[in-house]
Amino acid sequence: MSCKELIAKASATHCLTRNELIFLLKDNSCSDLLFAAADDIRHRYVGDEIHLRGLIEFSNICRNNCCYCGLRRDNHNLTRYRLSQDEIFALAQHAAVNMGLKTIVLQSGEDMYFDQDKMCEIITSIKSLNVALTLSIGEKNLSEYQAYKAAGADRFLLRIETTDKDLYHRLDPGMSWQARKQCLDDLRTSGLEVGSGIMVGLPDQTIESLADDILFFKQIDADMIGIGPFIPHPDTPLKNAAGGTLELSLKVMALTRLLLPDINIPATTAMETLASDGQTKALQAGANVIMPNVTLTQYRRHYELYPGKSNTNYTPDESLKVLRDKITSINRFVAADKGFHHRTKNGKA
Ligand code: 5AD
Ligand code: SF4
Repeated sequence: MSCKELIAKASATHCLTRNELIFLLKDNSCSDLLFAAADDIRHRYVGDEIHLRGLIEFSNICRNNCCYCGLRRDNHNLTRYRLSQDEIFALAQHAAVNMGLKTIVLQSGEDMYFDQDKMCEIITSIKSLNVALTLSIGEKNLSEYQAYKAAGADRFLLRIETTDKDLYHRLDPGMSWQARKQCLDDLRTSGLEVGSGIMVGLPDQTIESLADDILFFKQIDADMIGIGPFIPHPDTPLKNAAGGTLELSLKVMALTRLLLPDINIPATTAMETLASDGQTKALQAGANVIMPNVTLTQYRRHYELYPGKSNTNYTPDESLKVLRDKITSINRFVAADKGFHHRTKNGKA
């Protein structure tokens, strides 16, 4: 089949084989067609609304040592911070009440200070604001995920990072791919909405493994998938790596939209870091979510997963205004609801 025929097949059936995915990922002559098809499927399944999720980066302390990440524990060039429960609540309140955001995302490194009791207290307080609440705080066990759900959390983000197990074990020393997969299974059991995702352009990551990643998203029946280019950080072992490209990241994202037509897909900050129109391009190639950062600038600059991530002097309120203008300029709308994943019959394999 030609790439045009393969894209038409994916749009109609939401299925592609591994070889078909590899073919499309390798052929760059079809990128624009692929983006247009993903934009069309996004419009048909999840509409023209864009869901805004207010991101609070509440601690940059992490027990892990991922080779790609600026927060890794061996990076001693980073000023570490941890917000108090009151500060976290105040940011959430500002995001919900003054900025009108309907979802709050609490993200941190794997900071053991925030144990189950503390997290549940924070969850309960934020849920009083009538918002949906997403956690992105790393690997926990089933009973912890169940406790967060019982306290009122709605969703959890845990990227698998790559489905190439050897690559994962090389890049995430001391961690286990199987344990991470178990976390995703436990999250599903807990009843939380499950978000996952990968980085594109990791050193030695193959096109074949990216095809496997996309099939993995379908296999775990994800509610949300975030895809971003890997951007080398100067204070990590991967400082001299090439990094990912916007085009390949957009292609992986667009194919994910074709195969999982009704899920939520963010236009990621890493895409915007590579190009000033990266998020706009993503919103026109399958994405329907944006996560504006509501962390105060004084802390935000230390949440440096990769360089250039927060090279903005805008306050969260100013950034939101810029974002709203961007959304309007591409004839899209900011959603008024909480933006849960609505499963459609066709979206199922
Ligand atoms: N470049 C791009 N994304 C990164 N992440 C961590 N480090 C980098 C980097 N250097 C992503 C990982 C992680 C998420 C919070 O940030 O995918 O899951
Ligand atoms: Fe920690 Fe997450 Fe960074 Fe790994 S990617 S070092 S777990 S913050």
